[in-house]
Amino acid sequence: MGSAYFHLEPSATCNGTVVVPGDKSISHRAVMLASLAEGKSEIVGFLPSTDCEATLNAFQNMGVQIERIDDTHVRIQGVGLKGLRAPSNVLNMGNSGTAMRLMAGILSGQSFSSTLVGDASLSSRPMQRIQTPLKKMAANIASEEGYIPPLVIQPSSKLVGIDYSLPIPSAQVKSCVLLAGLYAQGKTCVKENTSTRDHTERMLQTFSYPIEVNHQSVCVEGGGKLIASKIEIPGDISSAAFLIVAALISKNSTLTIRNVGINPTRDGVIQILRLMGADILISNKRNMGMEPVGDLLIQSSELHGIEIPQSLIANSIDEFPIIFIAAACAQGVTTLNGAEELRVKESDRIAVMANGLRVLGINVDEKPDGLVINGGKFQGGEIDSGGDHRIAMAFAIASIQANAAITVRNTENVMTSFPNFVETVSNLGLKVSQH
Ligand code: S3P
Repeated sequence: MGSAYFHLEPSATCNGTVVVPGDKSISHRAVMLASLAEGKSEIVGFLPSTDCEATLNAFQNMGVQIERIDDTHVRIQGVGLKGLRAPSNVLNMGNSGTAMRLMAGILSGQSFSSTLVGDASLSSRPMQRIQTPLKKMAANIASEEGYIPPLVIQPSSKLVGIDYSLPIPSAQVKSCVLLAGLYAQGKTCVKENTSTRDHTERMLQTFSYPIEVNHQSVCVEGGGKLIASKIEIPGDISSAAFLIVAALISKNSTLTIRNVGINPTRDGVIQILRLMGADILISNKRNMGMEPVGDLLIQSSELHGIEIPQSLIANSIDEFPIIFIAAACAQGVTTLNGAEELRVKESDRIAVMANGLRVLGINVDEKPDGLVINGGKFQGGEIDSGGDHRIAMAFAIASIQANAAITVRNTENVMTSFPNFVETVSNLGLKVSQH
C-alpha cells in the first residue's frame, strides 16, 4: 500500500468557477488514433495523468514521434496503421484498464510480438472479455492462468472480421474489437444491448475512418486509413462529478464548471443526481469536434434517496463512488442493483466503498451486485481507498459534511485521472492537505 494520504477537516461551502482536466477516455483514444494516422495531429486539452502517459509512452516505445508543447498540448507524427515498430521492452500500462484493453486490440494486428503488463490492481483485472473476441478474429493472444495480465500478443497470420455481441456492457471491449477490426480482413461489427460510451466511434470519425453506426451496432472494415486531425478534448465529466457532489452537499454554494463533456453515453451521473433532487443546470451547449460539451451550474441541494434506474448504470459506471457519497448525505434510502461490474474496476468498488462508508458511521447493506445506503451523517475517521483514485476522491468530498476530520490513505493513484485534484478542491473551499 502506498504511503500518500489526504487529511481533511470539515468545510462548509464550495463556491467558484473551475475547469476540470481533459477527459481520460477521449485522451487515450486521441493518442492511439493520432499515432496510427497519416500526418501530424495536434491534441489540445490532453489529460496529463499517469494513465494517459502510459498510452503515450507505449507509442513512443513503438517509434512514434511525440512532441510535448506543454502538459496538455501534444503533437503526434502518425506512422500510419502499419508503421509501428516492435517495442524494445514490455509495455507497461500502469493502472489503466482502458490502455491495456484497447492496446491489445491494436497490437493484435501488428507483425511483431508484444507484452502488456500493469500494476498490482491491473494485474488482477479480467482479460477474458477481450481474449474471447480477439481469438475469434484469429488473434494470437495469451494471458496468465485465470485470464489476467500480462498479455502476450504474437503476430497473427491474418485477422478476420467478426460479428460480435457484447456479453457485458463494456466500451473497452467494444473499442478493443473495433481497433483490431482496422487490421482485419472484411467487416467487424459489434452489437450492444446497452449503449456504452461511444468515444471510439466518434474519434474514428474525427480521423476520417469510414464507420457504420446503426441502432446499437457499429461496424468498421479493415484496410482503410486514418487521416491526421486536430482534437480538442472536453473536460472529464467523471472528474467533474466529484465537484458537482461537493457543491450539492455543501451549504449555500454555487459552482460553475466550464467545458464539461456531456456525451449522452456518459451523463448518467447528472441524471441520477437530478432524480435525487440535485439542482444542476447545463448551459452553453455546443460541440468540441465530435463531442458535445456544456457549462454546468450547480447549487446546494437537499438530496433524497432513490432506486437507481438500471438504464442509467452503464453511462454512470465510473461515478458510483461519488454517487454513493451523495446517497449517504441524502434523506432516506438509495438502492443500486445490477452493477456487479463495479467489483472488477480499479478496486472492488462495492466492497471498498461499503467499508469506508461504515467507518464514517453510515448504515449500508452490501449486495453481490450493488449497495443499499441509508442516508445519515458522516463522522470522522480513517479510510483506505484500496489504491483506487475515484474512491480516494469520493471520501475526500465526504469531509465537507463530516463532523470531524477524515484521513484518506493510499491516494497516489489520484494522479491516474485528476492530477490537480487537491489544488482544485482547496481553491473551492475544501480544507485538505496532501502528504
Ligand atoms: C472506459 C470504459 C469503462 C470505464 C473505464 C473507461 C473506456 O470500462 O469504466 O473507466 O474508456 O472505454 P468498461 O469497458 O470495463 O465498462
